[in-house]
Amino acid sequence: MIIALNNKCNLTKQEFLKYQEELEKLSTKYKLILCPTFLNIAHYNLENVELGAQNVSPKAPGAVTGEVAAIQLKEEQVKYCIVGHSERRNYQHETDEEINQKIMRLLEQDIIPILCVGETKEEREKQLEKSIIEKELEIALENLTDEQKQKIIIAYEPIWSIGTGIIPTNDQIKEMFKTIKQILPNNKVLYGGSANEENVVLLKEIEEIDGYLLGGLSLKPEKLKIFIEKLEN
Ligand code: PGA
Repeated sequence: MIIALNNKCNLTKQEFLKYQEELEKLSTKYKLILCPTFLNIAHYNLENVELGAQNVSPKAPGAVTGEVAAIQLKEEQVKYCIVGHSERRNYQHETDEEINQKIMRLLEQDIIPILCVGETKEEREKQLEKSIIEKELEIALENLTDEQKQKIIIAYEPIWSIGTGIIPTNDQIKEMFKTIKQILPNNKVLYGGSANEENVVLLKEIEEIDGYLLGGLSLKPEKLKIFIEKLEN
């Protein structure tokens, strides 16, 4: 089981240092991956948690102002990197083609991409949820060898669930996992979107889930501890 923590754009340096003291106390048999802001990556000091990033440039190194290159992440001990998060697709207008380039840059540096896919509320209402994630996967994984594809972790994150407190039914999640696993039978697939220390009791009934991508909960170490305990027992 993988538990990836997406801090998004939260925590000042001082807050992050205190936060890490709390994370350091977490003991679990699961793999923990912390994805802080780029600046906080430089202050990472944990041994029980692996390091991830939230983004990477599709083009760098080079003349791309404001970007961070995969090789630079590698130097900072980054082992994983989120790509295609819906917030970036939405606010930064990131395309599937760019996401494909980002995956390439990461794999060149042996950094494992955590590729986010998911449908909007409107797409689900039109019953387009499966075709949407199939298209996202198809373009994001274009020109990758089977060996490269297998390295990628997929995170199914229904956009209508992120930060809303609403989660899909277990049957809905199972359907989407089935769709992903038909395309990528050997990949780890995470669930993300309002997972918390209460609904984990329901979510853990879904055998197909290989782990979680946690946003809001990642910022609350006490609740995160309860989440992990409930998952483990
Ligand atoms: P959430 O965010 O857990 O706050 O819904 C998940 C994510 O955006 O990765």
